[in-house]
Amino acid sequence: MNARDKFAGSTTISSRVSNDVTWQASKVSVDDRVRLLQQQPATVWLTGLSGAGKSTIAYELERRLIARGQAAFVMDGDNVRHGLNRDLGFSPSDRSENIRRIAEVAKLFNEAGMLVITSFISPYCSDRAMAREIIGADRFIEVHLATELRVCEERDPKGLYRKVRAGEIREFTGISAPYETPGQPDLRIDTGCMTLDASVEAILGLLESRLGAEPHE
Ligand code: ADX
Repeated sequence: MNARDKFAGSTTISSRVSNDVTWQASKVSVDDRVRLLQQQPATVWLTGLSGAGKSTIAYELERRLIARGQAAFVMDGDNVRHGLNRDLGFSPSDRSENIRRIAEVAKLFNEAGMLVITSFISPYCSDRAMAREIIGADRFIEVHLATELRVCEERDPKGLYRKVRAGEIREFTGISAPYETPGQPDLRIDTGCMTLDASVEAILGLLESRLGAEPHE
């Protein structure tokens, strides 16, 4: 199912832009911001099952980037669902809209010069493709946390898998809702056999090779 099909029938979500809105141009260019912050903006898009380690890696990566003087910010599924996306649930169309909004916000942050780290299950290939398109392929770095379901369920950091098995949560990714494995992520990490430090180092290495920027320590 692609993103457009998932939106079909939705009365709350419009993909059309009114004819009565006009784009307003900034007097500050992306290059101005790159010079100001001394970094190339990008979005590290973490995808994987609940319990795969997305938030843990996202916040440690953010800490490491800030510690070395880079402007970075995490957008995390659970947190964003407390505010901006509090009106969304876990149906395929709500997950799509969740990802669309986050991709648009990540794009804005990138335009402001920031490094963004997103931590969302983002289970559908079509939604991740939409995020790549919104953010721009040159700024989109897809990292698949390929931790096995068995390991995620053993960890069960929020007690959600237990609730799912007890029939208290429906449409749970990996059990009763799909997770579509990325075909060609920029990086694949199995946190079942890779430490937090090694995982973060691998992403930092990828960022440096993709953006060609050495951190200004
Ligand atoms: S996504 O599928 O739309 O990308 P998102 O990353 O925002 O999901 O939110 C996932 C988090 O919501 C999980 O880590 C978990 O804590 C919580 N959650 C609650 N219900 C579900 C569910 N049915 N499926 C997956 N995660 C759920």
